[in-house]
Amino acid sequence: MINILVVGSGGREHALGWKLASSPKVGIVYHAPGNGGTANNVDIGAEEIERLAQFASDNDCLTVVGPEVPLAAGIVDSFEKKGLEIFGPTRQAAQLESSKVWAKNFMKRNGILTARFEIFDDASKAKEYAKSVGYPLVVKADGLAAGKGVIVCDDANDAVSAIDKILVEKSFGNAGLRVILEERIDGVEASYIAISDGNVAYPMATSQDHKRIYDDDKGPNTGGMGAYSPTSIIGKSLGAQIQKDVIEKTVSSMRKEGIPFKGFLYAGIMVRDGKPYVLEFNARMGDPECQPIMVRMESDLVDYIQASIRGTLSSLPQISWKDQSAVCVVLASRGYPDSYPKDEEITGLDANDEISHVFHAGTRRANGKVLTNGGRVLGVTATGDTLQGAISNAYDRVERISWPSKYCRTDIGKKGSWIW
Ligand code: AMP
Ligand code: GLY
Repeated sequence: MINILVVGSGGREHALGWKLASSPKVGIVYHAPGNGGTANNVDIGAEEIERLAQFASDNDCLTVVGPEVPLAAGIVDSFEKKGLEIFGPTRQAAQLESSKVWAKNFMKRNGILTARFEIFDDASKAKEYAKSVGYPLVVKADGLAAGKGVIVCDDANDAVSAIDKILVEKSFGNAGLRVILEERIDGVEASYIAISDGNVAYPMATSQDHKRIYDDDKGPNTGGMGAYSPTSIIGKSLGAQIQKDVIEKTVSSMRKEGIPFKGFLYAGIMVRDGKPYVLEFNARMGDPECQPIMVRMESDLVDYIQASIRGTLSSLPQISWKDQSAVCVVLASRGYPDSYPKDEEITGLDANDEISHVFHAGTRRANGKVLTNGGRVLGVTATGDTLQGAISNAYDRVERISWPSKYCRTDIGKKGSWIW
């Protein structure tokens, strides 16, 4: 039996741990630090690499890393040096996410379709450029900024204030030593995630996130307010094109450059005029995309994780998926993505069943109660024979759960039914 250590504390990690625990090959699934919904929590933070390694070694664990920060800090390099089995990219490979400048240059030199861009470290030169181009821009800080370092602009004035925010006010610290000014691509966005062993990559199911806080995609960006899978935005032929021109090209180019990419490779795609532009890469699973993807996955995830680590993915069949839709509605605390109350008691958390699962994110347990402990609190995930059915199953479950500051979007999955 294989013991697993899942690193992280979000809904993504709860869903990964839940899926792994269903494998007949898996023994104990530990979560570090986990949340109020995960079992076998270990009191070690996701960034305490040395302590995590000691725990994994003492408990004979294969380690699965959820979030980007420990990957960018080199958790995989450090575990590998110690001879410990760990799933995810090395620090250098994780640059696909941790440095947007690195990722854009990588795409350019390898002919991967992405928005045209320029890179600046000097504010006045950046502003001059922003005023001179004739198309709307997106201004991005280079480094990791918890999803906040991207500012989508309507005109040159917006771009100038975004440049000031990043390069002059240094709102993102060292993550904002350089900015990317790139063309705004107006299209429809979807998530394409694959699993790679450094040689080949197998697609996970397609999905679409809902990044804005309010219905109809209004308000500021968040980590993601809900997701569904599969998405008709990426049909068979576009999926095959993304697999070949984005995923396989990335995996083979990384290998050629001497930085093989192992782990989940997530391409944020904008489809414009039928063409897939890469907006960003993530070196990990998406959150909340992970939740609907995991409930649809039929194959044993641990087989694919071991094959990724060992470089033997091509010996496995393609991953199989339930022929159903799945929807995850994120329940947040009112005020997120800014400040929000904590420690409110959550009621109505009935047992999970075949149709719906509640994955925890910002929760903790105290005195037999489940309390809120973060901005995104729960991910209510349900399946259905149609997208519409999955949506109503998810919202039925959402209605039974409550706490004083509970907030969710009421339109998760809707755009999946009306876009195409
Ligand atoms: P990123 O973290 O780079 O994916 O950016 C966050 C969000 O900003 C994306 O999910 C898109 O909604 C939006 N975005 C990023 N780059 C662009 C672009 N070039 N054109 C339009 N929207 C973009
Ligand atoms: N849901 C978007 C992300 O995980 O980056």
